[in-house]
Amino acid sequence: MATGNFNRALLVTGGAGFIGSHLVRRLVKHYPDTLVVNLDLLTYAGNLENLRDVENAPNYRFVKGDICDAKQVNALFEQFKFEGVFHLAAESHVDRSISDPMSFVKTNVLGTGVLLNAYRAYRADGGKFYQISTDEVFGSLTDVGFFTETTAYDPRSPYSASKASADHLVRAYHHTYQLPILISNCSNNYGSHQFPEKLIPLMINNIKQEKSLPVYGEGINVRDWLWVDDHVAAIDLIYHQGKTGETYAIGGGNEWRNIDLVHFLCDEVDTQLNRPKGTSRGLVTFVRDRAGHDHRYAIDATKLETELGWKPSVTFEEGLRLTIKWYLENSDWLNHITSGNYQEYYKKHYS
Ligand code: NAD
Ligand code: DAU
Repeated sequence: MATGNFNRALLVTGGAGFIGSHLVRRLVKHYPDTLVVNLDLLTYAGNLENLRDVENAPNYRFVKGDICDAKQVNALFEQFKFEGVFHLAAESHVDRSISDPMSFVKTNVLGTGVLLNAYRAYRADGGKFYQISTDEVFGSLTDVGFFTETTAYDPRSPYSASKASADHLVRAYHHTYQLPILISNCSNNYGSHQFPEKLIPLMINNIKQEKSLPVYGEGINVRDWLWVDDHVAAIDLIYHQGKTGETYAIGGGNEWRNIDLVHFLCDEVDTQLNRPKGTSRGLVTFVRDRAGHDHRYAIDATKLETELGWKPSVTFEEGLRLTIKWYLENSDWLNHITSGNYQEYYKKHYS
């Protein structure tokens, strides 16, 4: 086992992405006796600048690699004998899954299978294979009701179908090979370091630059928003205290119609940039709807709250103000993405 002076090794896949980088930061800081290995291919969505503050920590290692590459993945597992795996690497943007479904099938389904096989062959005792999934596998709600752990799967986009397939594989490995697994299905995350193709960072960036704000359809679709650090706190809690084989639904109880959220962002960015009240709302442009656009997602997180004592730490308005402040203060981070410079970071710092 190549964990050196560390008690255990944990693998995070997709640790250079949005949620993955917040999770890596938390694990590295909270568990100094644990070696945290981040396996990431650095696709367009992977950005090592997200991890600047922990990149030199003694208990952190970055490995550039593809979860679909069985040879590389097996060698990594053989080397580190991971106690546990936090599997986040994925193609994650619904719009991209509509224009290029096969890359979602490859990464999200095949990649998960490769990791499960490697974990089955090389894992250390006492840990779990933790599949970080999405509420989108449950489909679309009308204006009433909530998703829970027992809601039947009904994915409706290539993205959500690929995540649902991966979840099924994870459960199948549990039942067939007794692999210790966990799955959580989380609602929409927001916070710092999110790639500016997703609604909130895209809108903040456009408002800042006084560009038009493309709202799909009539803007009446509803999402249930959760601060990313509350998601990774839940992941940490579930890995360490959750029951093997179980599923947990994670959500903020925070439903917003897209148009109301975009208006809130306009007003708050105006306030933070000292623009006259109401300046940015005029940038809203209603555009053609997303194909197969799910109407509403909403999570009932009672199981996680009552069994493990988790609850969100910030209100949405508070979290959004902090998030807007972060994007406005970190224009270098945004500029590096829009210019493509962020993809040079690996070459400059790691090779
Ligand atoms: P992201 O797109 O920001 O990051 C994905 C990361 O995976 C990137 O760093 C990318 O380089 C890496 N990656 C992609 N393909 C890879 C491959 N073949 N091998 C190795 N690495 C690869 O995604 P995110 O928003 O941080 O989401 C992370 C996970 O959480 C995903 O599995 C997603 O389905 C799930 N999830 C996301 C949300 C959300 O609101 N963003 C909510 C619930 C669940
Ligand atoms: O629910 C969890 C999921 O949330 C995650 O599994 C996905 O990885 C993540 O991308 C997110 O999916 P959504 O499709 O809900 O997120 P997105 O930010 O793309 O869109 C949020 C809502 O805003 C959705 O109703 C579509 C709408 N939208 C999005 C964009 C990018 C717009 O109106 N205009 C836009 O330009």
